[in-house]
Amino acid sequence: MRKKVTKNTILKMKRSGEKIAAITSYDFLSTKIIDQTGIDLILVGDSLGMVIMGYENTLPVTMEEIIHHLKAVSRARPSAIVVGDMPFMSYQASVEDAVRNAGRLVKEGGAESVKLEGGERYVPVIEAIIHASIPVVGHLGLTPQSLHQMGGYRIQGRDEESAAKMVREAKALERAGCFAIVIEGVPYQLADTITESISIPTIGIGAGSHCDGQVLVLNDMLGIHEEPLPRFVKVYDEIGDRMRDAVSKYVEEVKEGKFPSIEHSYSTPRKKSAGRTGDNEESNDSGTGPESNK
Ligand code: KIV
Repeated sequence: MRKKVTKNTILKMKRSGEKIAAITSYDFLSTKIIDQTGIDLILVGDSLGMVIMGYENTLPVTMEEIIHHLKAVSRARPSAIVVGDMPFMSYQASVEDAVRNAGRLVKEGGAESVKLEGGERYVPVIEAIIHASIPVVGHLGLTPQSLHQMGGYRIQGRDEESAAKMVREAKALERAGCFAIVIEGVPYQLADTITESISIPTIGIGAGSHCDGQVLVLNDMLGIHEEPLPRFVKVYDEIGDRMRDAVSKYVEEVKEGKFPSIEHSYSTPRKKSAGRTGDNEESNDSGTGPESNK
């Protein structure tokens, strides 16, 4: 088993120059599989609103939904550090709300750290959560919970003024005690400047290759999606197409009576032969044990 990745491991990776590989996950078995790959950080992101729940954006996601999926992910006991995303309105209204909700992600969901979107304005919130001994990941740039404020999903920091502001915000998050910052949807030159300006790792998504690490939404990179994907997503496999093909084949075989064949069927146990001990040919297949899966 791999050594457990902690916030200190992530911090050290920046110093040693080893890139951080991060991905989202929302369920037990996917997490088991993902964790066998050497992934460093698993985010139970509020992207689950779209890819799991079918919401239009991340705004409707609730604490209960994040906790539900965090529980499934943390039950897989991954070596990667588990980050729980703080959903919209779980930290915006007050510092008290923020600490209580971050605590729930850890206590009920099993998160080992939390992520929240926003810059300098959230410094008191971040400090209070860290005072409660919960490590925090920041999130700057295109912050999807500010969808309406941004006027849509727009690349951020394109002009000098907003770029300079984002560098200041990154420094403020570092001072507040964040152990990493997700940088989303910004020009790669700005991501590069931010990465050079702070001593904590930057984890990019749509922010070029110069960040200290990268994060992608699992379903996107596996090709399980409905809407066209943004250009920053690299699709590593077309699992959606493969799933459709496999289920179509199953439907076809059921309709044609080809499935199940004899190899996927059970037979009536043969009768005991009279008088011979140790010659019980009765099947031990009760239909519930591992045998029933064969
Ligand atoms: O919710 C999420 O999946 C995220 C990543 C895209 C960084 O915040």
